[in-house]
Amino acid sequence: MSDWVFVCATGQLLPGEKAVVWADETPILVVNLDGELYAVEDRCTHDEYELSSGEVDVAEGSIACILHGARFDLRDGRALCAPAYDPVAKFPVKIEHGGIWTRDDRE
Ligand code: FES
Repeated sequence: MSDWVFVCATGQLLPGEKAVVWADETPILVVNLDGELYAVEDRCTHDEYELSSGEVDVAEGSIACILHGARFDLRDGRALCAPAYDPVAKFPVKIEHGGIWTRDDRE
């Protein structure tokens, strides 16, 4: 489990925008979906490509992996289409002291 990691000031992640931080060895993708913040591992479960290179679909609440086209639901991490079948890890997000924070809460 990592410590909380500072992502950015709250005003710096606007709806539809994304940011990536590292929590120890874990890359975490944080996305503002129309005002709600979500964090998932920035690693596609198909072939480990970085999901943050893909486009956020705000209406669907998803992000597409640009390598082979898998899509993941940013709200719960589940894979929405082949070639990925396993969900990406989902992480907590909090707002504190005017900033956005996340952590890898896995044991
Ligand atoms: S690495 Fe993401 S779809 Fe293949």
